[in-house]
Amino acid sequence: MPYLYTRLINKTHPLPSDYVPENLIDIGIPFDAPPGDPKRLLEKRAAKAALRLINTACQEGLCLYGISGYRSYKRQMELYTGSPYVAAPGTSEHQSGLALDLSCPAIRMQLIPEFSHTPEGQWLARNASLYGFILRYPKNKESITGVPYEPWHIRYVTRELAGYLKLTGLTLEEYFAFSLSNSLQNQ
Ligand code: DAL
Ligand code: ZN
Repeated sequence: MPYLYTRLINKTHPLPSDYVPENLIDIGIPFDAPPGDPKRLLEKRAAKAALRLINTACQEGLCLYGISGYRSYKRQMELYTGSPYVAAPGTSEHQSGLALDLSCPAIRMQLIPEFSHTPEGQWLARNASLYGFILRYPKNKESITGVPYEPWHIRYVTRELAGYLKLTGLTLEEYFAFSLSNSLQNQ
């Protein structure tokens, strides 16, 4: 699995402040932001996967909209308030171009926990892994991820890893902790 896609990004594993992903594109996902807004950008492979996901949901009558994709280090600095919902600059997956926040018209495009009760949010939780995404900040894992429940935030990690994490219920933090302890045991 290419390291780029599976990379752990959090408070203890930040991205360099000058990190900008290669291959950022606006693939034409329905977005609650006008063309030209950098938040519409995603890393190319993540963008293709997100487009397939949203198109399939749409064919099933579910309207998912992008709210926030790529965010530069500088933009994250502007947004950072100290709230646990907004990662500190360098520690946001949005800087990687691999994370996408989604919402739907039923909750007026807000990023709120009620998204998980909408048909769109439920479909996303069931199907995201088929497209290579995980729900990165699940309920009851706040102490592990360091971020409150965010049913709207998906992270591209490849289909292979997303399937494994969905089956096992592990967060990325737990996956990397287990891989590390396994590799130490096998030394
Ligand atoms: N909402 C997540 C934690 C972020 O700002 O990346
Ligand atoms: Zn997010």
